[in-house]
Amino acid sequence: MDYRITIIPGDGIGPDIAEQAKRVLEQVGTVFGHTFTCTSVLAGGAAYDATGHPLPADTVCACTQSDAVLLAAVGGPAWDTLPGHLRPEAALLGLRAQLGLFANLRPAIMYPQLSEACPIKPSVIGSSLDIMVVRELTGGIYFGERGQRTLADGTVQAYDTMSYREDEVERIARRAFDIAMLRGRRVTSVDKANILESSRLWREVVTRVSRDYPEVELSHMYVDNAAMQLVWNPSQFDVIVTTNMFGDILSDEASMITGSIGMLPSASLGGGSLGMYEPIHGSAPDIAGTDMANPIAMVLSAALMLRYSLGLSREAEAVEQAVSQVLDGSWRTRDIMSEGMTLVGTREMGRLIETYITRG
Ligand code: IPM
Ligand code: MG
Repeated sequence: MDYRITIIPGDGIGPDIAEQAKRVLEQVGTVFGHTFTCTSVLAGGAAYDATGHPLPADTVCACTQSDAVLLAAVGGPAWDTLPGHLRPEAALLGLRAQLGLFANLRPAIMYPQLSEACPIKPSVIGSSLDIMVVRELTGGIYFGERGQRTLADGTVQAYDTMSYREDEVERIARRAFDIAMLRGRRVTSVDKANILESSRLWREVVTRVSRDYPEVELSHMYVDNAAMQLVWNPSQFDVIVTTNMFGDILSDEASMITGSIGMLPSASLGGGSLGMYEPIHGSAPDIAGTDMANPIAMVLSAALMLRYSLGLSREAEAVEQAVSQVLDGSWRTRDIMSEGMTLVGTREMGRLIETYITRG
């Protein structure tokens, strides 16, 4: 089969790691007999510099016409002083909204080979950790009305609003329950229903949806408690489903406790098969172009793309397997380096993964 992939290398280390994902995909194509036609387009700071806008219309158009989108990273200090709608981050929110990608899947997995990097005591974390954070991605406070106004007494006030419609909650809840059915069959819905009206509706709708999934155990947790429970007893969680902002925060926390933040991919999905896949980490402008970045999260994002958008699960497993074998060897990029291991650069890590891709 021939698949059309839109690649957004973006800013900072984005182009460095995107290159390695491309090479791994090419190898998957050779080994399994597919063609991945990759087209690179601009978004983020690179797009702002070239066109004056972080998300050019051509980019959105290329994405909608492809089978899947791979995004490396956007942002950096060079664009920090731009107004909100021109910042690189606006490209991310624009892509999510315009492609209808309402469900963000952020697996927090601890690699046994890297368990030493986990900041939590072994007695707390146990031998493994595998949490799936399902974050609502196109609603809530990141998309609500916001602005600044001058009050009668001359004071300037800024505001952001958080609102959720029933149907927005229902579709993300269904996605979370569907995923839980394929895993540990437990869903923790995280909200702030003791304060927020939108959370009370969230809780009501999630509870209603849960009746269609009698095999899945549902619990509710306030977000402050969830933040605490994640470090106190992380293995109690299977699937966490939550709002856009709470998911933004808790997914960073969950990924950090694995000690593997440079290793974790994510998937943003909508109602159809089109999805956008990106590493959880940022653009690390300080090491851009130095061949130091870890390309693994990017490569694993390509694996999620193979699985969720292209329906190629054997190929996805081949990529995940290759990454695991490289880790079983002694090769490490700088961020995951430890004593006795062999330090490799971005390109060499990509090349190593490529050599381990087999039909299994
Ligand atoms: C993320 C990032 C983005 C978000 C930013 C860069 C807009 O933090 O993907 O989690 O908040 O969604
Ligand atoms: Mg975030």
